[in-house]
Amino acid sequence: MQLQLATWQEVERYLASSTGIIMPIGSAEQHGPNGLIGTDAVCPEIIARGLGLATDAMVAPTISVGIAQHHLGFAGSMCLRPSTMIQLIRDYVVSLARHGFDRFFFLNGHGGNIATVEAAFAEIHSEVSMLTREAKRPLRCTLSNWWDSKGVKAISRELYGDDEGQHATCSEVSVTQYAYPEAIKNANFEGRAAAYSGIHDADDYRRRYPDGRIGSLPSLSTPEAGKQLYEASIADLGETYRDFLSSA
Ligand code: NI
Repeated sequence: MQLQLATWQEVERYLASSTGIIMPIGSAEQHGPNGLIGTDAVCPEIIARGLGLATDAMVAPTISVGIAQHHLGFAGSMCLRPSTMIQLIRDYVVSLARHGFDRFFFLNGHGGNIATVEAAFAEIHSEVSMLTREAKRPLRCTLSNWWDSKGVKAISRELYGDDEGQHATCSEVSVTQYAYPEAIKNANFEGRAAAYSGIHDADDYRRRYPDGRIGSLPSLSTPEAGKQLYEASIADLGETYRDFLSSA
């Protein structure tokens, strides 16, 4: 069930049977010549919806702008400062916790978010710990990256090998092509993508990685591969989500 498409009465009924919620989180940043700006938000968003259906879980609105200062050298990229994202995640979690949600399953689409999401969890746990004993509620947050599942890794290795790359990967572009076939782009890829050599500020990134990709050849992406990756991710994450719900 998607929170945005539910009534408050439906949310109340849901909470009587489950206190878990899936929180898709991504980024709005360039993804090379044929990748959508929204790639890192689109992937966890559609996987979260599929996962929600597979596990009868509530799905929160996607946090679709993330930690992406290094992409600001390319038109359309947006970013939150880490300190802003920590506050934003804190406010999402605390407002949902007020209604009784206490298992927050963050489904991430962007590697650059990981450190800040973990810092936000530390902030939230600090807040709970500082409450008086009577006011405390149990509250658990966890983070899973959609691309980290065994099934997804096996498929991307088999289909793309070293051409998968590190940014604007063949797999993530494929998942967006499956989600939005009407937005598939044709692009000329001039030569190989630059290999990974570190990430610093936005101007430095653009100098190192002139067309935005890192190590990838996403002309190999297809919606058919995207469907396989989508299904593999949901299958693996279903198990992870159920384990999280039943964890102490
Ligand atoms: Ni990405």
